[in-house]
Amino acid sequence: MTRARRNEAAKAPALQRPPAEVLHAEELARLRDEDSGPRPPGWQLSLQAVRAFILGDAAKGLRRKLVCPPSLVERCMVTLATNRGLLLVGEPGTAKSLLSELLAAAVSGVSTLTIQGGAATTEDHIRYSWNYALLVNEGPSPRALVPGPMYLGMKQGQLVRFEEITRCPLEVQDALLSLLSERVLAVPELEGPEGMLFAREGFNIIATANTRDRGVNEMSAALKRRFNFETLFPILDADAELQLVKEESARLLARSGVPVTPPDEVLEVLVRTFRELRTGEVKDGQAVEKLSTVLSTAEAVSVAHAVGVRGWYLRGDGGTPADVVECLAGTAAKDNAEDLKKIRRYLEQRVGHRTGAHWRALYEARFLLPG
Ligand SMILES: Nc1ncnc2c1ncn2[C@@H]1O[C@H](COP(=O)(O)OP(=O)(O)O)[C@@H](O)[C@H]1O
Ligand SMILES: [Mg+2]
Repeated sequence: MTRARRNEAAKAPALQRPPAEVLHAEELARLRDEDSGPRPPGWQLSLQAVRAFILGDAAKGLRRKLVCPPSLVERCMVTLATNRGLLLVGEPGTAKSLLSELLAAAVSGVSTLTIQGGAATTEDHIRYSWNYALLVNEGPSPRALVPGPMYLGMKQGQLVRFEEITRCPLEVQDALLSLLSERVLAVPELEGPEGMLFAREGFNIIATANTRDRGVNEMSAALKRRFNFETLFPILDADAELQLVKEESARLLARSGVPVTPPDEVLEVLVRTFRELRTGEVKDGQAVEKLSTVLSTAEAVSVAHAVGVRGWYLRGDGGTPADVVECLAGTAAKDNAEDLKKIRRYLEQRVGHRTGAHWRALYEARFLLPG
C-alpha cells in the first residue's frame, strides 16, 4: 500500500449528518460579519439575516434551505424573540425539524441542544441529572450535576429544541411550565445561589409535534397557552417541490458516493406520482384514491435518493422509472396492503394511457410491486 492509500484508509469516514451550524458554518460566519441590523438580546443575528439564511438570498450567495411562505419564518422569529415558546405542528415530513434546526443554528449558533420526545423521556433528560460516582463521594455539588439541554439553554442563553413534544408523558410536558413562565429552574439539591438557575436572554423553546401522532389536543391547556402555534404544510407548488427533490437528492447522492443524478424525467414521474397519491387529484381531473400513509416531500426525497443509489451501484446508471416502483412499495405502502392495492390501481388505471417513455416504463414496471 502506498502512503497516500494508507492515509486515506486511516481517515475516518465523513459525518453522516453534520448539524446545520457545521454544514452552513461559512454562510453563518459571513452573515455575522456583515449583519448590521438590530438584534434581539441574546441573538447572534438580526431577524433580516436569519430570514436570508433560511429562505436564501441569491445576491448574497445564500442558498434557499426551506420552501415556505416568508411570513411563516417571520412569525416564528417574532415568537422566539418574545417570552412565548414556538410550537411547529404538521404532518410528518413537512420540514418541522428542519426549520427548528435552522432557526436554532442561526439565532443561537447551536442546534444540538435537543430533546427527543418519546414515551421514555423523563424530567431528568430535560433538566439535569447527576454523576452518581461524584454524588456518592461528595454529595450534591455543581460538579456532580450533569446538565440537560434545558439547563444549558437557560444558562447559556440559547434556543432549545424539543422534538415530538406530544409523544412525551403529560407530567414531563408539565415540567416545562415553570421554565417557560418563570424562566427559572430550581435545583433543590443545591444550596445557595446555585439552587436557582435564572435563564439568560436568548433562551427559548422550539417544539415540534406531528399531527399524525398522539394529537396536540392531548397537550395540557396550561402548556398550550405558553406556546404560539405555527402549522407547516406540504409544498403547494408542484414545480417548487420538484426543484427541491432534485436539489436535495443530488446532495444526498453526492454524500453516498454516487457521481450521477436521476434523469429529470424520472424525477418528474416520481414527484407527480407522489403528489397525485397524496392529494387524490390528477391533472386530467379524474380522482385517485389517496393513500393512508403520508407521502411527504421528505419521502419523495428519500425515494429519489434510493433510486439514484440503485441505478448507480446496481447498474451504473442514474436510475429508471422501474427503480421508482421498486422503492415505492417500501416507502409509500410500508406494511399497508390496502395502500399497495391503491398504488397498483393507480399505475393500471391512471398511468397506463399516459404518453411519454417514462410513464410507459413506470406502467410496465407495475409487476414489480410485491403481492
Ligand atoms: N418545505 C420544505 N422545504 C425544504 N425541505 C423540505 C420541505 N419539506 C420537506 N423537506 C425535506 O424533508 C426533509 C425532512 O423533513 P423534516 O424536517 O424531518 O420533517 P418533519 O420534522 O416535519 O417530519 C428535509 O430535510 C427536506 O429534505
Ligand atoms: Mg421531525
